[in-house]
Parts: sequence; C-alpha cells; structure tokens
Amino acid sequence: MLSAINRRVLSILLSCILLVSMLLTGCGAETTQHKPGKIRIGMTLYDQYDTFLSQLAEEFAGQIEPDVELITYNASQSQQTQNSQVRKMIEEGCDVICVNLVDRTDPTAVIDSARKAGVPIVFFNRELVEGDIGRWDKLFYVGADAAQSGIMQGELAARTCLTDRSVDKNLDGIIQYVVLEGEAGHQDSIVRTEYSVNTLMKEGVKVDKLGYAIANWNRAQAQTKTSQFIESFGDSIELILSNNDDMALGAIDAYESSGMIKSGWPVIFGIDGTDVGLEAVRDDKMVGTVYNDKEGQARAMYRLAMLLAKGGSIDELSDEYAVSEGKYIRLPYAKVTAANINSYLGR
Ligand code: GAL
Repeated sequence: MLSAINRRVLSILLSCILLVSMLLTGCGAETTQHKPGKIRIGMTLYDQYDTFLSQLAEEFAGQIEPDVELITYNASQSQQTQNSQVRKMIEEGCDVICVNLVDRTDPTAVIDSARKAGVPIVFFNRELVEGDIGRWDKLFYVGADAAQSGIMQGELAARTCLTDRSVDKNLDGIIQYVVLEGEAGHQDSIVRTEYSVNTLMKEGVKVDKLGYAIANWNRAQAQTKTSQFIESFGDSIELILSNNDDMALGAIDAYESSGMIKSGWPVIFGIDGTDVGLEAVRDDKMVGTVYNDKEGQARAMYRLAMLLAKGGSIDELSDEYAVSEGKYIRLPYAKVTAANINSYLGR
C-alpha cells in the first residue's frame, strides 16, 4: 500500500505529466491528428486567386512526397486572418510553415507565434523588411530579385522601341508610355517600375510618361484603368509597361473591347510568364514578358522547408542555390519573347 506521502508525490507527478502534454498539444485547442513519422508543412497564401501565386502553390503541392503532408490556407487578403491561420497550423503540429504575407510590413504576429512554438518560417514572394527577418534565426525568404525583373523588362522594351520604328506611331522620336502598377507598397511594384523605366532611358529611348495606374496585380482592374487611359489619350499611347502579366492581359482586354485596330495598339510588356501570359506572347498580343521562375521557387521552398523540418540548416543548400546572408534564396528571372517562347510554353 502507498503511504499518504507517496500518494501525494504520485499525484503531483501525474499533474506535471498532464500539464506538459497539454502544453505540447496546444492546451485544449482543436488539433488534427499528426500522423506519426510524417512531416507536416503548412502554407498560407495572401490571395489564392492571384494567378501567379496559384500556379506557384500548385507547383509546390506537386513536390509533396508520400511521407509529407501539406495544409494550405487562403488568407483572402486579411493579415488578421493569416495570423490566426499561422496559430492554427502550429496547433495542428506543422513542422515548418511557408508564409506569403498579406502585409509585408506587418509580420510581427506571425513571427511571434512561430518563435514561441519554435516552428521555422519560410516567407515567400512578398518580402519582409530586413529588420524583421533578422528577428529570429529560423526566418527565411525565397523569391526573386525585383530589380532584375525591372531591368529585363526595360531591356526588352528598349530593344523593341529601338529596332521597330512602327512603335513610335506619331513619329516624334519620343515613346509615349503608361505604367500599370501592382499593389502600392509591394517590393515588386515599386522596384520593377523604377528599374524598367530607368533601363529604358539608359538604353537610349526618349520617353514621355502619359500616366500610371495602380491595378493591384489584377486583370479586371487593369482593364478598367486602361479603358480610362484609352478614353483620355486615344491612340497616342505607344508603350505599356505592366508590373505583371495579368495586368498586361487586362490592358489587352481593354484594347480588344475598344475596337481599335491592332496596328493602333501600343506594344505591351508583362512580367511572370504565367500560362495565360505566355499564350499572349505566343499570340503576338504581348511583345514580351519576364519569366518569374515559379518552378524554381517552389522547388527551393520545398527543399528548404524539408531541411528545416528535419532540423537542418539553409547552408546545406548552398551548393544548389545562391544563399545570401544565411536567410535568402533568390531565383533568377529570364526574358521571354516570340523568339524563345516554345521553351517556356507548357513548363
Ligand atoms: C509578384 C507577381 C505578381 C503577383 C505578386 C503577388 O511577384 O509578379 O503577379 O503574384 O507577386 O505578391
């Protein structure tokens, strides 16, 4: 028989075991059963209807091996929703979480939750600022170099303007252009616009900016904004630089519904090389785009996520990728025109 003292010691011991196991399972939170031996990866997208990201997420899902589980959430453009999704994925036992931030300037809640639980985060596509990524050693970023995409778009546009005299429709020696911009405050909007226009000028093209419009990466919004440009400027727009393919396609939609004959259209350039974007290059509606390597980014994210889930380090990837500051992996962009479209279609 146990003495009263031994019974007390036993009951304290049992309470401690219960407390520890509650802490480990998230203290009464609703958790799905984490299958033993399986690695669980969480992913949250700022908006699952974004064309480029939905294709990137599809590529990522295509990498998942049989002993790995993937849980994906759509944050529907709400940072608050995303914060609670991250908490939920931690409760659900995710070993690593890939976060496509809604508001790239507001990652505090995500970082705090992850750090508290010791779950590494791979941010992607929407780059957080340096001060934030430095807040914990298990925060990483996979994406691309926005400046490079702007430079490549500028080079493509310059080559067309300098070699095809028909671009300068009014023959004034100056290219009248408009810019379609992504979200205000997104690194890819600010940087692409700046580098694209500066490169165009550096390459020797004289330019005259008629206007710019923010269309949030969105095809329908870009169509509306371009229709307004057509109303204001008629056929005097000679070049459209779009921060992504979907907005370039919105511009094409606007010209198609304007009834203007194709020879009156401006030359249009995008960035991304989404399936629909590549088709527009093939069909000679868009002169060129810059390939945002979704396959490469998805592969790098998966390789990194798996390493981190197993307790490894990003340095193990440095033979395959250019790892900078022990935190960043950036995949290179590539120029796409009618000349090399066949090697990109159907990737
Ligand atoms: C950019 C991409 C856009 C859009 C955006 C969302 O890199 O070019 O099409 O997907 O990311 O953050």
